[in-house]
Amino acid sequence: MSNSPFRPGYSRMPLVFGGHERTVREFENVFQNFDIGENQSVLVSGLRGAGKTSMLGTLGDLAAAHGWTVIREDAGTGLLSRVMDSRIPQILGTFDRDTRMRLTRLGIWEFTADFDYVERKREVTPLLRDDLAAIAQATDDRGILVLVDEVSSRKSALDELSRFALELSHAIAEGLNIVVVFAGVKIELDELLAQPHLTFLRRSRQLIFRRLSAEATRRVIRETTEAGGRKLALDAEEHLITTSQGYPYLVQLVGDYAWRNNPDADGITLEDAESAREKAISEVEERVISRVYRDLSEKDREFLQAMSPDDGVSKMGSIADRMGVSPQYANIYKQRLIDSGYVQMAGRGFVDFSLPYLREYVRTVVSTTSASPREPDNGGWDEFPPPKR
Ligand SMILES: Nc1ncnc2c1ncn2[C@@H]1O[C@H](COP(=O)(O)OP(=O)(O)O)[C@@H](O)[C@H]1O
Ligand SMILES: [Mg+2]
Repeated sequence: MSNSPFRPGYSRMPLVFGGHERTVREFENVFQNFDIGENQSVLVSGLRGAGKTSMLGTLGDLAAAHGWTVIREDAGTGLLSRVMDSRIPQILGTFDRDTRMRLTRLGIWEFTADFDYVERKREVTPLLRDDLAAIAQATDDRGILVLVDEVSSRKSALDELSRFALELSHAIAEGLNIVVVFAGVKIELDELLAQPHLTFLRRSRQLIFRRLSAEATRRVIRETTEAGGRKLALDAEEHLITTSQGYPYLVQLVGDYAWRNNPDADGITLEDAESAREKAISEVEERVISRVYRDLSEKDREFLQAMSPDDGVSKMGSIADRMGVSPQYANIYKQRLIDSGYVQMAGRGFVDFSLPYLREYVRTVVSTTSASPREPDNGGWDEFPPPKR
């Protein structure tokens, strides 16, 4: 019996990382040629399960493979001290002897006689910007990638992250080869951008993670199955694609259930895919969609509730009516929900859910009742409508 190659779960790197080809290519160029350009600071936003952490992991691996120093932490209390007191000394310990000797001479850290243990010199006021500059100097400015995941807008976390970002901005202003990537839920990242003194972050490149295209989804499902050593029937493939709707977490979940249905068989069949559907959808509702819904404010939820009676797209006018608010007011909420990836435009005056199965979930939360079709180019998903439940 072979183990499933699918990796459903938060922060579990997929075996096959689909989509985002351009971003990955661009970063490869950054790491290889130091052609940093507009990628100096990047903000990755998206709903839970959209693949933000996996992207950080992918970038971290890529950078390390090109000899960059990678500093990766979750935001939150103690960020600065976690980085300065444990992450950086740990990284310093991995440098070769020559580099460590050079670091010693810079006077920030002391190493033991055989250079295998680092201690910060007490007479120096520790500043992250100095640490980064020292690492850059000792490594001939070979590049430092700073990855910060789970950006949160809780006050204490935000204060700490602001101080951290300010240090980074000083290091960047020195002209060092530093690239910074922050990841989090859109609403939380927006709070960070609103902080004073963080102008450099407001100039960041913004990457918004939504669904994978139908083609990228196909590649992930097929290549993951084949890497696991089994075949994938064509009709099973279609079925898994339509069930997942390209939502990364769900792609891994439905693939995993299909794999486990009959793991000793030669390949995954349509029957396996069918048996996986209900399980994967209810699991994604429980682990992802419910949390994504809870991330919203009361008013945002009211907007989604006002959309949920419709079987297809919702008319903005009807939403405003159902909410009992003016069209202008409803528009503000529409825009916020579009920006954060919950909702998408579906032609003039119409919106639709952009997270699969969110409608069904919202219906279970409330109980309410119908409108019409068509949406613009949406990554090829018109050919793969979600299955009726
Ligand atoms: N580009 C991708 N291709 C295939 N699977 C992915 C991709 N990105 C994420 N996944 C899968 O989706 C799930 C959630 O990924 P994660 O990176 O933790 O999302 P987030 O950090 O946005 O909540 C994991 O099971 C992961 O393996
Ligand atoms: Mg994550």
